[in-house]
Amino acid sequence: MATVKLTNVKKIYGKNVVAVNDFNLEIADKEFVVFVGPSGCGKSTTLRMIAGLEDITEGTVEIGDKVVNDLQPKDRNIAMVFQNYALYPHLTVYENMAFALRLLRVPQQIEQKDGSVKTVYSKLSQDEIYKRVTEAAEILGISDLLLRRPRELSGGQRQRVAIGRAMVRDSQVFLMDEPLSNLDAKLRNQMRAEIILLRKKIDTTFIYVTHDQTEAMTLGDRIVIMKDGYIQQVGTPAEVFDMPSNLFVAEFIGAPKMNIVEAELTREGENYFVTVFGVKLPVDGEKGEALCNKQAEEQKILLGVRPEHMTLTNRSNPCAIPCTIQVIEMMGSELHLHVLAPDGTPLIVRVPTVQLTTQQVAGLVAGARIYVTFRGKVMHFFHKETQFNLLSEQTSQSVKSESDSHSQWYHN
Ligand SMILES: Nc1ncnc2c1ncn2[C@@H]1O[C@H](COP(=O)(O)OP(=O)(O)O)[C@@H](O)[C@H]1O
Ligand SMILES: [Mg+2]
Repeated sequence: MATVKLTNVKKIYGKNVVAVNDFNLEIADKEFVVFVGPSGCGKSTTLRMIAGLEDITEGTVEIGDKVVNDLQPKDRNIAMVFQNYALYPHLTVYENMAFALRLLRVPQQIEQKDGSVKTVYSKLSQDEIYKRVTEAAEILGISDLLLRRPRELSGGQRQRVAIGRAMVRDSQVFLMDEPLSNLDAKLRNQMRAEIILLRKKIDTTFIYVTHDQTEAMTLGDRIVIMKDGYIQQVGTPAEVFDMPSNLFVAEFIGAPKMNIVEAELTREGENYFVTVFGVKLPVDGEKGEALCNKQAEEQKILLGVRPEHMTLTNRSNPCAIPCTIQVIEMMGSELHLHVLAPDGTPLIVRVPTVQLTTQQVAGLVAGARIYVTFRGKVMHFFHKETQFNLLSEQTSQSVKSESDSHSQWYHN
């Protein structure tokens, strides 16, 4: 059993640097959980408290139903891979991976003559070390590198050795802190896919830290989104994408980020409408029903629509919002249109190129007038002051809602 449970965990560095606050999370056995958030939000601190590398100021950390607050890192049965993988430069790959195993003392219960049981700690045998290192090397595809030294390896190969070094220890929890940050973009994509495969082979509990939302979305069974030491939302990739609990999560998850515009939510009987840039759009489908079930009040809101959920339409559509193209980015399979709405608000519209005729593509040039629209089901409604999602069940009371943080997210 390698569940991990954090209850009311708090970390204060020195006298008053509050790095982590109110952290509550239960991680299931063999689950892959990703902590994601901007730099400085407390991801590494949380991971290091789980690993035992950092004291816990308040709260408890349990691994496999046992409180580990006072256990040394070596007694927690965890493996950790860091961003700077710090291999021993003078040792071969084999010796780098075997190093910790040589230091390991495994407990053995030995029955005494009088019937009592004594625990003795013994070293692993050379055969056992060889078996573990070569098996890990096989899984990681580095069997032919075992006699090389770190400087004779590429960045990706070094990263595999660092993972291998953690793997051989047969830990119940695998912690990774930005393990791919030092790699170039192409290698990072490749290693990301490898971690997905590796995870199937190792089959243990993973906690993975990254600032990269793509990594979080592709790797995690569940994602924990953090900001300023507080959890903002916990959910599956689909949940945080479809129902971000607040404006911060909405803008953090998804690229290019969600368009946010000021709008007015109104109600006529059972039907809701948003008025944006003077255009009144019906909130049709399940979003309309959800607003109705919640008895949402008429109010000024921040309306969110993802770039991929805006579609091109024509002038005669009563739901058409006229926009002016500023910049066009050709991404291959799609175009990113940077446009200005009627009041000058910048928006991004993602258009799959397969949906366009050659003639239409030719008409998409800087300065051109286009018409965009969107349906109710892709709308996200945020409270103007608290920035909470009007439809979200999960509203974190720990999210701070100073008015200045709104302008910071909204305008950049
Ligand atoms: N050893 C330390 N002493 C004082 N403050 C620290 C220390 N380590 C981290 N911090 C602060 O704690 C906050 C969270 O840091 P960290 O957990 O490293 O963030 P992340 O990993 O999300 O980038 C930051 O404000 C950081 O400056
Ligand atoms: Mg960090």
